[in-house]
Amino acid sequence: MAHQWRGVVEEYRERLPVADGDPVVTLGEGGTPLVAAPALSARTGADVHLKVEGANPTGSFKDRGMTVAMSKVAATPTELVVCASTGNTSASAAAYAVRAGLRCAVVLPAGKIAAGKLAQAIVHGATLVAVDGNFDDCLRIVRELADRYPAALVNSVNPYRLQGQKTAAFEVVDALGDAPDIHVLPVGNAGNISAYWLGYNEYAGRTTAASLPGTGADLPPVATRTPRMWGVQADGAAPLVKGVAVEHPETVATAIRIGNPASWDLAEAARTDSGGRIDAVTDAQILAAQALLAAEVGVFVEPASAASVAGLLQAAELGRVPAGAQVVCTVTGNGLKDTATALGQADVEPAVIAPTLGAAVAALGL
Ligand code: F0G
Repeated sequence: MAHQWRGVVEEYRERLPVADGDPVVTLGEGGTPLVAAPALSARTGADVHLKVEGANPTGSFKDRGMTVAMSKVAATPTELVVCASTGNTSASAAAYAVRAGLRCAVVLPAGKIAAGKLAQAIVHGATLVAVDGNFDDCLRIVRELADRYPAALVNSVNPYRLQGQKTAAFEVVDALGDAPDIHVLPVGNAGNISAYWLGYNEYAGRTTAASLPGTGADLPPVATRTPRMWGVQADGAAPLVKGVAVEHPETVATAIRIGNPASWDLAEAARTDSGGRIDAVTDAQILAAQALLAAEVGVFVEPASAASVAGLLQAAELGRVPAGAQVVCTVTGNGLKDTATALGQADVEPAVIAPTLGAAVAALGL
């Protein structure tokens, strides 16, 4: 019988705050591959898989939260959605607003959005506002804007975003048969680590501070345990590691260039309650991990996504990864969104040859 993945709302409806008859705004998000990474297993002595979230419709994990948040807005008279973003949230909001028939305004830090993400917001018809400031300034502005004007906020401070994003944890358990020992992911505004922790707990029959009534804890448990949550921040934007907000966050991983995460408390709870940790890695480590993923695993991710793998490699060097542990790293966004950073100084123009087999053979040195 024909079957196609139906998007996270239909696949996990009994665990989401979407009632029968509510509109569902979806692009078929979720159902992303969990890919074994033998090159990382060999380097760490663990059994490492990647949750490849760049395979979502707009190329990042944001689509999981956006389908739920946008479905909720579509059930109200509100005609405008707004978000602050380092790029991926705006790309996702713009696309899902098209599906919902809503207008979308995105407020972005000027000059700090990867070209592919900016292109997505533009082609999907969002109104762009560039701010002379960082993401934290943008989020402050849209929060006030949504308070005072008839606009729905679709950043992860909207609780429906975390509800949708928790489905990634469900998929990991569905694929592995139980929760892994350790789950590693990059941390910026700290919504995603909070959402995974929520999802893992609900699948294990427990609730957390982010649980909403009737969204799963009353259902029979699917998992017998929860993983340790390992968050990874960029050195220049590591408020959760330092324990204090960073006024001028700076990193090559623009997606996580955030100094004062909105879900600070939930992320700290995830770390503490799971027996996990939040570490920082340098831009050089991030770029090295991105290159390694591309060259040795076959997965092209954007820099922020590589932070999770950089964090895992660092932990392994420090002897913190138990031998044989089952580890899942979320790689949050597609490498195609930011080709400029990936290519760096590399020469992208191959030598041009005459249109003959002989010239091709010579060029290949065969
Ligand atoms: N990875 C990517 C590719 C991201 O785009 C983000 C966040 C994160 C990791 C961090 O996730 O914020 O839940 O801790 N991007 C947001 C945006 C801030 O506006 O697109 P988080």
